[in-house]
Amino acid sequence: MKVPERVTICEVGTRDGFQIEPDFIPTELKVEVVNLLAEAAVPRIEVTSFVHPKVVPQLRDAEEVMAKIRRRPGTRYAALVPNDKGAVRAVDAGVDAIHTVVSASESHNLANVNMTIGESIQKIAAVMRVAEPAKVDVGCGISTSFGCPFEGDVPLSHLESVVRRLVDIGARAVGLADTTGMANPRQVARVFDHLIARFPGVEWTLHTHDTRAMAIPNILAAMECGVTHFDSSIGGLGGCPFAPGASGNVSSEDLVHCLGAMGVETGIDLDKLIAAARRVQAIVGRTLPGQIVKAGKATRRYPLPDTVAARLRA
Ligand code: COA
Ligand code: ZN
Repeated sequence: MKVPERVTICEVGTRDGFQIEPDFIPTELKVEVVNLLAEAAVPRIEVTSFVHPKVVPQLRDAEEVMAKIRRRPGTRYAALVPNDKGAVRAVDAGVDAIHTVVSASESHNLANVNMTIGESIQKIAAVMRVAEPAKVDVGCGISTSFGCPFEGDVPLSHLESVVRRLVDIGARAVGLADTTGMANPRQVARVFDHLIARFPGVEWTLHTHDTRAMAIPNILAAMECGVTHFDSSIGGLGGCPFAPGASGNVSSEDLVHCLGAMGVETGIDLDKLIAAARRVQAIVGRTLPGQIVKAGKATRRYPLPDTVAARLRA
């Protein structure tokens, strides 16, 4: 299997995850989780989003969270923004990077940000005009890239046209998001092979949801195409409030464990990440989908039953 030596993980749990939690997570606890993730040497964290506070009330404390986190050198702190108003707030709050959002399907884009795709692209251009003088990086995410919960299949030609419009306004980093876990590995490979050939120089990210247990297979398929940036979420939190049937992202600790076992470097301290996942479970008050927290690492060993030990000695 062809795998890169190293990949870059962006942790999205405090944004993609906390946005859909039924209860508001107190600001101090959000800050604690971001700090735990940074202490585990996570290189990129999507901390929060600067969206309408009535639309996503769970993240209405975005400014406060950004102001209170401890900034670890080596971690890039980003936030999701849908428009220039959000970009101004994010830049004022001191983000290192902005992640924009537009969907590949008109219906999800309207449900999510109350704009047509064309209107969103114009807003993203306005976001870039805010970010550039502030020297803030911009990455452009495309929701429902592999299928839409309302429309079903998203034709590759259509996804390509959204990528083209983003590249035309200056996007250099593009993320494809499988918002409701509809992608399969063969499709992921076909889509990335197609786009990578047509848009050389773009830094690609894959953002997966494990709704149908295909997230890690999809990541492996993308890795074989040469993709080296992946989003994941601590514990497997996550889900879009405006996509019916959405559920958690691929769990960060499961992904880091899998990559580590395969000899792919992430730079992340897995033990600290697992401890962070335990803490997040305590904060949200329930068991999360991540498997490694339950099973332990593959290096875990159990005491031999006495009868077996006796027979081995005999
Ligand atoms: N942050 C805070 N307020 C914002 C804002 C932002 N990023 N963008 C717009 N607003 C305010 C405007 O200032 C305006 O306020 P006013 O009524 O006091 O003048 C009001 O919201 C309406 O502005 P408008 O541009 O018409 O926004 P809208 O009501 O059409 O909503 C979005 C558009 C994008 C702001 C909203 O749909 C949204 O926040 N969506 C986020 C969805 C999301 O986070 N999904 C999950 C992640 S993928
Ligand atoms: Zn997501």
